[in-house]
Amino acid sequence: MVIVPGPASKSLALKVAEILGDDVLHLNLRDFSDGEWVVQFDVENFERKGAGEEFIIVQTTYPYQDRNLLQLLVMIDTLCDLFGVSPTVVVPYLAFSRQDKRFLPGESITAKTILNLIYDRGAKRLITVDVHNEDIFSYVAIDCVNVTAMKEIGKYLLKIGLKNPIVISPDEGAITHAKAVAEILGCEHDFFKKKRSRVTGEINVEKGDIQVKGRDVVVVDDIISTGGTVVEAVKIVKSLGALKVYAACTHGLLVKDAFERIINAGAEKIFGTDTVQSEISVISVAPVIAETLKK
Ligand code: R5P
Repeated sequence: MVIVPGPASKSLALKVAEILGDDVLHLNLRDFSDGEWVVQFDVENFERKGAGEEFIIVQTTYPYQDRNLLQLLVMIDTLCDLFGVSPTVVVPYLAFSRQDKRFLPGESITAKTILNLIYDRGAKRLITVDVHNEDIFSYVAIDCVNVTAMKEIGKYLLKIGLKNPIVISPDEGAITHAKAVAEILGCEHDFFKKKRSRVTGEINVEKGDIQVKGRDVVVVDDIISTGGTVVEAVKIVKSLGALKVYAACTHGLLVKDAFERIINAGAEKIFGTDTVQSEISVISVAPVIAETLKK
């Protein structure tokens, strides 16, 4: 395999290549003053080992989503051109995956559009991490694999010495994530009920009757974007008498002041992975991606 590090996932791609001991095809991104750019693969220093060699592009699509997505499409297209092959694409954070259906009349199903663009450009397989809803894979005639970072998150949390912990997802959709983390920690898990207005984005998390008094709590979600969801969950568990509260997620988008808001709500720390590189990316998904590629 040849790993191709996209500009948005350079360090993650190099970690994957190191684990697998694979060759790397580097590329250079040159920006122009008008906002346009060009991708140039380092073909001069790359020797192909054979026609059967697999190319693996690693490119995440965190904000700015449009730019990172377009770079991905251009990379796929150019690789097909240069080597006459269909690459596998690893998109650790798949942007727009939350827009998985038409919630309001006339809306775009953006996840469907994005997947089809990836397919149309020539990718033969997509690997992604904790995609918001795996059902979107049915929108496209491409081999899609979703891997989870939750075991890695659980393993990391094991090291911080939690007291009588419980893992809680802030909504029902993320309960499988809470379960996976709780299994590694050997503790209970539960979930809150959340409602979000499709028009205003306003979030309401219901208290329920989860027993958190005197326990450390981990609030786990797939994505922390504005932080609104996790802030509500953290406030509730604090008001119910939780000891230390930690927030963990796969994709820490941390839009605007999300980090500060979560800490101010009462969280001790926030943990995330390197699907999106940010101040909370302390857990790497490189091992799970490498393992999936090996298979
Ligand atoms: C939605 O269902 C997701 O699982 C997350 O809960 C959501 O994307 C988090 O967004 P925010 O941080 O803006 O509340």
